[in-house]
Amino acid sequence: TDAAGGETPPMGWNSYNKFGLGVHGFLVRETVDGAKRYKLDEAGYKYIVMDDGWPERELAADGRLVPDPNRFPEGIKPLTDYVKSQGFELGIYSSPNKRTCGDWPGSLGNEELHAQQFAEWGVKFVKYDYCPTRNDEQETGREEIIRRYRVFTEALNKVDPEMVHAICEKGWAGSLSRRQRKATNGTVTAEQRHAAFAWAPELGTMWRTTGDIKANWKRIMQILDMQEGLEELAGPGAFNNPDMLEVGNGNLTRAENRAHFSLWCILNSPLILGNDLRNIPDDVVEIITNKEVIALNQDVLCKQGKIGYSRDGVQVWVKPLKNGDTGVLILNRNDEPVDFTFNFADASLEVNAYIVRDLWAKKTLGTINQSLKLEIASHDVKVYRLGIP
Ligand code: GLA
Repeated sequence: TDAAGGETPPMGWNSYNKFGLGVHGFLVRETVDGAKRYKLDEAGYKYIVMDDGWPERELAADGRLVPDPNRFPEGIKPLTDYVKSQGFELGIYSSPNKRTCGDWPGSLGNEELHAQQFAEWGVKFVKYDYCPTRNDEQETGREEIIRRYRVFTEALNKVDPEMVHAICEKGWAGSLSRRQRKATNGTVTAEQRHAAFAWAPELGTMWRTTGDIKANWKRIMQILDMQEGLEELAGPGAFNNPDMLEVGNGNLTRAENRAHFSLWCILNSPLILGNDLRNIPDDVVEIITNKEVIALNQDVLCKQGKIGYSRDGVQVWVKPLKNGDTGVLILNRNDEPVDFTFNFADASLEVNAYIVRDLWAKKTLGTINQSLKLEIASHDVKVYRLGIP
């Protein structure tokens, strides 16, 4: 793949889920300070990404993006330097259209110039987000949108082949013909999902696979269900992105936060935090810095987890790991606790005895034969690393 950036899923933070269109320089500085204080760098988090809303409402006469002077009185370069001095990298946002989703100027027609600006500022991550804009005269076809992403990938490769290119293109359901949608009763099949994103791994480090996430369990489960079929698109340096994390936002319970985080780990998803890093409750810190769970996500094989089997509202997810171990996540989707027997053979695991390590209890259970009897709270998970004895 041509996709640049780290080989394992990018980790970091983005301003949008918590702060919407309100990003500003002081917030970025305080966020970096928080990230440092909570030792998020040691857990692997790297990119501090400013979402939509950072520039002035119009481009300069020469086509340049101008940082909003009220939000960024120091400009961007000193901010990047500060972010780097604390051990992180800055990320930024633009669009392959005339305007961004929030109606700021995009990069269409100025791709090389803007890529150069980002590189000169020392930025290392660009979220490139397509929305149809208010004054588009007609619907932009998917081919044209993909062409625009290619132009930007080439512009980034020229200035900095290490730049993470985070494709954010949500028009895929619309890319199905009316006839196809009718044939599937309005739902999209796994095959269609795969086909809709087949272009992305070549052009991006990661690509959004759904519309926007929300900080509620129902939406998180909807997004989870939309990942089926995409598994084979992912690999080193190329990741399906089921959107940024809502861990610590809204009224997600502790179990839901833990489940959401663990699922994104097993899915090989980029881990882009979306909570307020200036002040993180202890239980949230514990979740987002669980190194053994993060290690499933950062495994260099970069295999996206799949459902091994489902029964009684419980899903068993399986992720093969580089050293021959297997990551397993067991999700209770029921609104009440459940007694569940996890059968290795039902998940098509090849061996009938494993050394089992519980990654949330942080306990090795020893060598277990054939199955494991469990009690799982509502909307909670068990996460294991299985090793061959
Ligand atoms: C879209 C994206 C979001 C966010 C907003 C900003 O909705 O999907 O992640 O970037 O635009 O306007």
